[in-house]
Amino acid sequence: MAHPLTILGIESSCDDTGAALVRHAQGEAPQILANVVAGQTDLHAAFGGVVPEIAARAHAEKLDLVVEEALNRAGLSLADVDAIAVTAGPGLIGGVLSGVMLAKGVSVATGKPLIGVNHLAGHALTPRLTGQVEFPYLMLLVSGGHCQFLRVDGADSFTRLGGTIDDAPGEAFDKCAKLLGLPQPGGPAVEAAARSGDPARFAFPRPLLDRPGCDLSFSGLKTALMRARDALVAEKGGLTRADRADLCAGFQAAIADVLAEKSRRALAASPGVRAFAVAGGVAANTLLRARLERVAGAVPFVAPPLSLCTDNAAMIAWAGLERFRAGHRDDLSLSARPRWPLDTAAAPLIGSGKRGAKA
Ligand code: KG4
Ligand code: ZN
Repeated sequence: MAHPLTILGIESSCDDTGAALVRHAQGEAPQILANVVAGQTDLHAAFGGVVPEIAARAHAEKLDLVVEEALNRAGLSLADVDAIAVTAGPGLIGGVLSGVMLAKGVSVATGKPLIGVNHLAGHALTPRLTGQVEFPYLMLLVSGGHCQFLRVDGADSFTRLGGTIDDAPGEAFDKCAKLLGLPQPGGPAVEAAARSGDPARFAFPRPLLDRPGCDLSFSGLKTALMRARDALVAEKGGLTRADRADLCAGFQAAIADVLAEKSRRALAASPGVRAFAVAGGVAANTLLRARLERVAGAVPFVAPPLSLCTDNAAMIAWAGLERFRAGHRDDLSLSARPRWPLDTAAAPLIGSGKRGAKA
């Protein structure tokens, strides 16, 4: 049997500081030996969004600690690691830089190879870590900062079929919650409120469904919500619990409808795919999951466990492992890239998420 590979992964592109150890022997299921994530939600709560400087400082303070914690939990030392994989972009530059500098330091100190990983490739390759999905497959990334359809043909071969031209869906959920006075992160709060709501009471648009292709737009939904809310406030002086529930239900239904129809088109444009996979925090939404699963039809639908759908270092270790196995190595010239599209042939997306510009 071939020597199993053990990779240390490091993630710091947004507001989660992560370190993980993943081991894989060819022909066997990958093992996550440790997956440590230190979130920063409390540090940014007062500002209504991620503050890049605060995020970068917190990463710099926490990175060595999470690496140590991951090694301890796995019962390993750096000598047991075959390579160090680190998110080199896209993301908030200060955070990405913190991770890349740490990884370079560890690489120089230990003599272990360094591998720069695209954060989006980490998300996109997760179905192979959790479900050993074979290429090619279709991937929908839906989070607070990303929204795109990718056809994944190999560990380094991605074709973007479409993406958001403005907000990401998680960002839309967060703004919806803010407009209605619900807590952050907005997705779970809006989903909970929507449970008792009537999705048909308010007419929300279905943006870009009238146009061909798989591009999406979510910023108009926020405007529609604001108008409906303001009309209610003008009429009655405030919102009742039932008003909030109906607004949330209508808003959520519009997002689910748009993502379901665009997924149908992306699948139709991807003959021969072996699976339809989702990743990103919005993939936690029950209505959306059910709708996407229905759209997948005979194609297996794969939704990794939520802790691996959201930002984490295990996905970076896994993407690094795939690159390492393919012979890829980086050196000290590895740079941090705030923008780094997976599909370099595709036209740049206009949109950027609340977490900063995402490729
Ligand atoms: O992937 P993620 O943890 O972080 C990044 O954006 O990088 O995604 C977080 C996003 C937030 O915008 C949050 O509101 C949304 O995922 N979210 C949800 C749900 N749970 C989290 N959106 C809709 N329904 C949910 N149940
Ligand atoms: Zn992410």
